[in-house]
Amino acid sequence: MSVERVTVPDIRSRKRRSGSRPIVMVTAYDAPGARIVDAAGVDIVLVGDSVADNVLGYPDTLHVTVDDMVRHVAAVARAGPRALIVADMPWMSYHLGPEEAVRNAAALVRAGAEAVKLEGGEVRLPVISALLRAEIPVMGHLGLTPQSVHAMGGYRVQARTGEAARSLVAAAAALAEAGCFALVLEGVPDVVAEAATGTVDVPTIGIGAGPSCDGQVLVFHDLLGLGRRPAPRFARAYLDMGGLATEAIARFAADVRDGRFPSAEESYHGPPDLRDALGPNPEPPRPPEPP
Ligand code: KIV
Repeated sequence: MSVERVTVPDIRSRKRRSGSRPIVMVTAYDAPGARIVDAAGVDIVLVGDSVADNVLGYPDTLHVTVDDMVRHVAAVARAGPRALIVADMPWMSYHLGPEEAVRNAAALVRAGAEAVKLEGGEVRLPVISALLRAEIPVMGHLGLTPQSVHAMGGYRVQARTGEAARSLVAAAAALAEAGCFALVLEGVPDVVAEAATGTVDVPTIGIGAGPSCDGQVLVFHDLLGLGRRPAPRFARAYLDMGGLATEAIARFAADVRDGRFPSAEESYHGPPDLRDALGPNPEPPRPPEPP
């Protein structure tokens, strides 16, 4: 039986004020992650440039290249999720002009992305129009945009003054008007996200933006307790997977050191005369050392 895949028009129509259920988006960066996220029934799997800090060990997202993203998008796509696959355009892949942005977005689409996400407000309108003309759906991203970490002076909640809040709502309106099918609102006060959500007719997806958005997104590693500490206040961990994984690996290490791994059942056995055929063993194994 074929499963109906989530599409861009499905997501585009999901406003809560029209009675739609909230959109659920979670990041994934590889095939096993995508299978886990998809089996949980999310609507969108985001191959985020947060692969930088969550997987590749970089201090921020500015280190990720188009080639990095292509590799991770392809891995997610090979898992064949039912969820819509959205890929982040990394820093400097859309800043040098529409033509280069379209070329880079096309590489992500050829790797398996069905839409791209990019950060920024009105300044991105020419790039967004070019991508849409190339039939590449675009998700916007406003507020605390991690690729602007240096310009913002750190990872700070944005739109905290009346003027900045009005600018953010205006930017949301401009991006929706330009044709973005959804907008991520990150790190903004709840009332600002509420105003932006009420202003635009495309869904907003919040992260650190309060409960009024049309959907919510969390990073895989934060959600599962695999992220770095301290986590931001919105990053609710539903599992201490890091702790559970360390505990499991410590048990394996103890079993190896105490001679409990592998057991006879976990070993391969040859024919009964194989030991004799090998001749005398010059150095029989020593019993494990006491801990
Ligand atoms: O890269 C990412 O994980 C993101 C989400 C935080 C929205 O852009």
